Amino acid sequence: MLELSDIKSSEEELQNYYAQLSAQYVTPAWISGGISTEPQSKAVPYLWHWRDLRPQAMRAAELVGTQQAERRVLRLTNPELSGVSASNTLVANIQIVMPGEIARAHRHSAAALRLIIEGRGGYTVVNGERVPMFPGDLVLTPNWTWHDHANDTDGPMMWLDGLDTPLVRMLEAGFYEEYHQERQEFGAGVNASPWHYPMSEMHAALERLADAGFSAARDGIVLEYTNYHVVEGAGYSMVGDRRLDWEDKDVFTVPTWTFHEHVNTGDRAAFLFSFSDAPVMKALTLYREEVRA
Ligand SMILES: [Fe+2]
Repeated sequence: MLELSDIKSSEEELQNYYAQLSAQYVTPAWISGGISTEPQSKAVPYLWHWRDLRPQAMRAAELVGTQQAERRVLRLTNPELSGVSASNTLVANIQIVMPGEIARAHRHSAAALRLIIEGRGGYTVVNGERVPMFPGDLVLTPNWTWHDHANDTDGPMMWLDGLDTPLVRMLEAGFYEEYHQERQEFGAGVNASPWHYPMSEMHAALERLADAGFSAARDGIVLEYTNYHVVEGAGYSMVGDRRLDWEDKDVFTVPTWTFHEHVNTGDRAAFLFSFSDAPVMKALTLYREEVRA
């Protein structure tokens, strides 16, 4: 007959055994813990106000040149994570390029996106294609694409960077390379469509959907780490039991497996932009959603 076994050993015997294992760099799983019935993120919901971020970005532009910093970037740091990232797997940065400056060309295995916050007409060169940047535009630099940024306007260019650097680091798949010149030559092709999603087009498309009665955000409750950026509008989000009040250009982060809802308290449409781990989760068949009744 098969049954669960019951062995009585003394605490001393166990501790001796564990000490031997430890000396051999082996760990008994039964005392390691770590089983939970659902994900429990160390990250907490958090919101960074643009009114706080903008002056610090301008200050960075006074203190540090693009010669000194590969990228002049302020990294939004989740208060409860040990790493320098907004969520466990994603970073959210504010980057600033001042008039006349360039951020030199490089590429990396982490994928990046930019959501333009301020400045009109600076540009990013992606694999030799010149992509113009206007507020609300989304510019993609997928992994291992060459990219450099330039500001030939008379005002600062600022944007939100989103990268999957922590995830790539966790997978120990981080590669990085500098281009052989500071800037890429670019061809005649302006408005390279694979890399560029202009806000003017998104705006119109979203308003059409809203008019047609679609809820823009089914954005139910998703097993993912998410960072949100308020393109425009005012309102608040309940994330778990925390209320995050947002307005134009703020950034906030939603930990994995946390109920969240967004409420527009303003008198105009609110446009929220989010990026998340959903594509990775789906590729690994780990993606789950739950809608609260
Ligand atoms: Fe980069």
